[in-house]
Amino acid sequence: MIGTDIDIAANLLTNGQVVAIPTETVYGLAANAFNANAVAKIYAIKNRPAFNPLIIHAHHPKQLADWGLQVPTKMEMLLSHFSPGPLTYVIPKSNAIPDLVTAGTNAVAVRFPNHAITLKLLQQLEFPLAAPSANPSGFVSPTTAQHVNQQLGQQIPYILDGGNCSVGVESTIISFLNPVPEILRYGGVTIEEIETVIGKVLDKPKLSGTQITTDNPVAPGQLAKHYATKHPLIIGNINTITLPKNLNKVACISFNAYNHLLPIENQFVLSGNNNLAEAAQKLFSVLRQLNEMDLDLIIAEQFPDIGIGKAINDRLYRASIKN
Ligand code: TXA
Ligand code: MG
Repeated sequence: MIGTDIDIAANLLTNGQVVAIPTETVYGLAANAFNANAVAKIYAIKNRPAFNPLIIHAHHPKQLADWGLQVPTKMEMLLSHFSPGPLTYVIPKSNAIPDLVTAGTNAVAVRFPNHAITLKLLQQLEFPLAAPSANPSGFVSPTTAQHVNQQLGQQIPYILDGGNCSVGVESTIISFLNPVPEILRYGGVTIEEIETVIGKVLDKPKLSGTQITTDNPVAPGQLAKHYATKHPLIIGNINTITLPKNLNKVACISFNAYNHLLPIENQFVLSGNNNLAEAAQKLFSVLRQLNEMDLDLIIAEQFPDIGIGKAINDRLYRASIKN
């Protein structure tokens, strides 16, 4: 069921059930992070590999001390700038966090989502919420309650509807496990913004299809094949790629302009006015729309590799990787 009743969501979560929640990035599939049985349901519903840990969602950084978690100085600085917001912090785990949440590793990921309804929900609860994106494992993340309902509606008792996600790609993940903080995933907060506050960080290792596979993740969160589209997706320039004969079955994703080659209804322009944030916000719904079409090929343009454009390119790259 889809609804907007925070009390219903709070009751279900308190009773160990799984509920989909809105955040500013994407919808999450949430359960009581301190209840291992409830957390196990998340893995089952998503069909998520047991080695892939979950992010803990809380409403205020002051809660971390209550759970025995220590905040490094540079993280403290980022917290005051970007939380609540689309930034996830990886820090050493404490005993309060069940091993199932961290997939047996000794680090935990935490974030403070910037969404009014979910902040209110978190304030009502006596526990934080473990929540991965609310999609079957390997699939594109949902940015509306309807997206969640289409794939997981039968398996969860409630989807808390908070409208369209405003950021549209997942949070940036930064690790504080080593002296120099390291970006593990590009997302809603840009590297440029982070470096303005804490100085140089390690950029995440560049992904390559052969180097990293689902069977051989270099680290949690580094699964190369992800965001799978139903039809083959390649990244390139529509003007230079050799196109298949039947152009009715070719679609494209472009940043700001239409082309003269493909039927107009097969062209998805993410931001007519050149705005990368708008492009990011629309990306995942467009990937879902493309799944509904009868296509042989999707050609995605490379986006400017700055700011949130890095997150867009990362998701497109992962969508382009097939087995
Ligand atoms: O924006 C987001 O982060 C969304 C919303 C719902 O908050 N959540 C999300 O969760 O994207 P998920 O599970 O789809 O992606 C979380 C990523 C995974 O790739 C996981 O491997 C990584 O975070 N992660 C979680 N715990 C970690 C840890 N302890 N160390 C390193 N990576 C971790
Ligand atoms: Mg996910």
